[in-house]
Amino acid sequence: MSLRFDLFTLLPAVCAAYTQESILKRAQAAGLVEINIHNIRDYAAGKHQVTDDLPYGGGGGMVMKPEPVFAAVESVLAGDRPPIILLTPQGRLLTQAVAQELARHPRLVLICGRYEGFDERIREHLATDEISIGDYVLTGGELAALAVVDAVTRLLPGALGDETGAQDDSHASGLLEYPHYTRPSEFRGWPVPEPLLSGNHALIARWRRQQALRRTFLRRPEMLLKLELSEEDKIFLSQTAAELTPGEKTE
Ligand code: 6GU
Repeated sequence: MSLRFDLFTLLPAVCAAYTQESILKRAQAAGLVEINIHNIRDYAAGKHQVTDDLPYGGGGGMVMKPEPVFAAVESVLAGDRPPIILLTPQGRLLTQAVAQELARHPRLVLICGRYEGFDERIREHLATDEISIGDYVLTGGELAALAVVDAVTRLLPGALGDETGAQDDSHASGLLEYPHYTRPSEFRGWPVPEPLLSGNHALIARWRRQQALRRTFLRRPEMLLKLELSEEDKIFLSQTAAELTPGEKTE
């Protein structure tokens, strides 16, 4: 099964530049995903194809007009009722769980705003979902839409060209990822940790698990509360916690 994205934007070239490279390029070539990028301006009326206008009630900034956005999205729906996702800083936060949920759909529509915001009728009568990528404000939804396309596409079986795929990723397991090393085994006097050179797969797996637990404890302790930990994990973590004087967390 494949997934079709329809991405609506006023900056199609910006979006295409990213989707035409690397893993997204390969996933499209392999037929795992179809990414259609549409220019909202093509659906705006009049000689000047205006897509924004002054806000009713006054105040600063411009507002994205409803007509071109409705016309653009309705032109591709063809009776389908996919999630229609507005990218705005007021949306629900994009997490790995949200990416996994979105990856189950055969089709997703993403709408990027520019200007100060969308006319509220787009949100009320066209969009079915609203997503943000974090608590900061960007000049438009494009980076957020590309984050959704990227995070969802790499979850599709075959997209990473590697059977283990996305399962070891930071956040997929509920833990941050363990550290990675490649050759040389010593660089500027800094060695690769011994267990990774041992060839002992059980030892390597235990070292990686402990490093992931340690890093998560140090950087994102709240993530550990949501996890089911083994007895061995709990013992390791209590040792790790005991080794650290309060206020002296490192990494
Ligand atoms: Cl989706 N849009 C904008 N403009 N800013 C954001 C965002 C989205 N997510 C975080 N900041």
